[in-house]
Amino acid sequence: MNFSRINGRGRVLTRVRRNLAVSISAGTALLLCSATFSMSQSATLPIMPLPSDVQTHDGRQVLSPHFSYFTSGARDERIDRAVARTLRQVEERSGLLFDRTPEGKFVAAADGKAAALLIDCRAASAAIPQLGEDESYTLEISTAQTVLRAPTTLGVLRGLATWTQLVKSDRSGWFLPALTMRDAPHFGWRGLLIDVARHWQPIDVIKRNLDGMALVKLNVLHLHLTEDQGFRIESKTHPKLHELGSDGLYFTQKQIREIIAYAAERGIRVVPEFDMPGHATSWVVGYPNLASAPGPYAIERRWGVFDPVLDPTNEDVYKLLEAFLGEMAALFPDPYLHIGGDENNGKQWTANAKIQEFIREKNLKDNGGLHAYFNRRLLDILQKNGKKLVGWDEILHPDLPKDAVVQSWRGAAGLAAASKAGHNVILSNGYYIDLIQPAREHYAIDPLPAGNTLTAEEQARVLGGEATMWAEWVGPETIDSRIWPRTAAIAERLWSPREVKDKADMYRRLDYVSRRLDEIGLQHLRYREPMLRTYAGDAAQNEDLAVLRELLTLLEPVKGYRRNHAMNDAGPSQFIPLTGLPDLAGPDAPATRAFAEAAEPVIFEKGNPSELRAAFEHWRRVAARLQDCAASGRLGPRSGEVASIGQQLAELAEIGQEVVNAAESSSSETHGAAWRDQIIEKLDKNAGSAPVVEFPAANSLKLLAAAVSERPRQGEFAPAAWRKHLKALAFPKKSK
Ligand code: ACM
Repeated sequence: MNFSRINGRGRVLTRVRRNLAVSISAGTALLLCSATFSMSQSATLPIMPLPSDVQTHDGRQVLSPHFSYFTSGARDERIDRAVARTLRQVEERSGLLFDRTPEGKFVAAADGKAAALLIDCRAASAAIPQLGEDESYTLEISTAQTVLRAPTTLGVLRGLATWTQLVKSDRSGWFLPALTMRDAPHFGWRGLLIDVARHWQPIDVIKRNLDGMALVKLNVLHLHLTEDQGFRIESKTHPKLHELGSDGLYFTQKQIREIIAYAAERGIRVVPEFDMPGHATSWVVGYPNLASAPGPYAIERRWGVFDPVLDPTNEDVYKLLEAFLGEMAALFPDPYLHIGGDENNGKQWTANAKIQEFIREKNLKDNGGLHAYFNRRLLDILQKNGKKLVGWDEILHPDLPKDAVVQSWRGAAGLAAASKAGHNVILSNGYYIDLIQPAREHYAIDPLPAGNTLTAEEQARVLGGEATMWAEWVGPETIDSRIWPRTAAIAERLWSPREVKDKADMYRRLDYVSRRLDEIGLQHLRYREPMLRTYAGDAAQNEDLAVLRELLTLLEPVKGYRRNHAMNDAGPSQFIPLTGLPDLAGPDAPATRAFAEAAEPVIFEKGNPSELRAAFEHWRRVAARLQDCAASGRLGPRSGEVASIGQQLAELAEIGQEVVNAAESSSSETHGAAWRDQIIEKLDKNAGSAPVVEFPAANSLKLLAAAVSERPRQGEFAPAAWRKHLKALAFPKKSK
């Protein structure tokens, strides 16, 4: 029997962990912590997130067409429907056709023994999932059958999500590896925010992403429904909100009910966000009297922080909110309701004498005090409707009642401050998937990292985290490619034990889960071919498409907010077509990952650079093909852009060659600081001159140039300090 544990969680105080106390005693956890941590067994499993505990055994459960299942314990039709969805996925993957009843249903076995899949659910979960519900399960897969046991329906759903990922094949057919698994989440709040406001995302986008979330055990869909650029939900009490604030692109209340039901079926909560008092332009298009400066207002079309803000001194604002939030509280069953609260620049408040007078009269001190007053009024409305308030970092204020939840987007310090102040908290800083960082960077962010300084009580207030899909640069065609597969890595961070953190193994498993996500309908892989054809145009030949595909393995969109800055003057941002190179390119481009991995030992340990030289040769060939393709004119008006990118890639290969030659030469005199800075400047110019795409390999080359220039001093540094030193030299902070 093979044996491997990937447990070792030190946390026993979260809500969810309390449920676990029966299955994992503190003693066991300690023992597991001190055991040599081994990924070897779990690493053979193509699943994400990894479970708390797994032992693999010899043998396999062979999948045959004569498949039947049996449910014991609590009756819950959601389980039958989840089994049907899961089996259909397995059929489509495998080509197997499982037995059906005359009505076309999968076959229920006569008893547990006869079933290929036996599910034992102790208690049906509530109709709508709740924070803190027990999501644990165990899986026992033997040659005879799978036994899935869970205390609740939610646990069964999580177990099925694991089971479907375990199905694999070899020459002899389809099977599941024999194993014993015990699993439960680390954090109880594991979310994905989808901004449907900046760019509209219709219901199909939401549904397929709910399917993806269920596969990786995320359990909160946070819908960012209102923004300066759009009011995306039907209000029956104040219809001018959506009628004038949305260009006709909004969810009807019927559609919202459909989304909630679809999510609940998959064990996912839906938390709505109505962002206020700032980010509120779309509210005041229909109701200009609610703003803090006279209207009229129009829907905002650009990205950034804007002045329109609700007027907290105006009782009409609360009248509207009483009605609107009451309406929303009735529509959304989750007890949590998000009121935004971020990025209020305060300009309209400062410029308004009546508002400043109100602040003085009420002793509110300043705009911050007025914001706290507004939140207090909101909280009263929410409490009347039985809801708990969630808001972004900025709502944290000494006057904020303790039962408000703070979602931290600005930094770990905000998370700590809010939990120390007695609030439950959710981490999003580090999980901003719109910023196009590689999955490994998100993966490294833990809401409760080892060695954190929070007390046990403060740690218990850290509910979990949320990936945030802000929608400045995503439309329905591209949004999946920004969410997936990277969000699966965040899902693992939030579900799996803290000790599961091997990046190479994460990437290996991410490739599997990416295919599973594709199979269930996510478009992160398949969107690219049609878009590439459109980009290349009607005259493009196969060879043109082939070299553009090659380019896309090397190229990524720019990171952070650089695309916003680069496109500020390009016209109304909301209408810019999302069909260009930065949309075709995606995060974590495969060859950039490979290059970074090959460069790592060359930079930090003076390893052999032969793989890097091979990459430069490859780049030269791709660059030459891009030039040919551009010169042919077949790409029409895109030819210029493609020629320029080809030129940059050729130059990148030249610079790379120079840096590697320097790394291999023994002369440190000619490769000192001046040489390094000149290399960095050339890389910035050549690899960063296309304003919205970049070659990330340039970053490795900058680090290598820094290493070469500092090599005589390497002995002065411990390995971690050496790394830090090189990074500081390679990526100097630019003054603003
Ligand atoms: C935010 O990103 N302004 C919450």
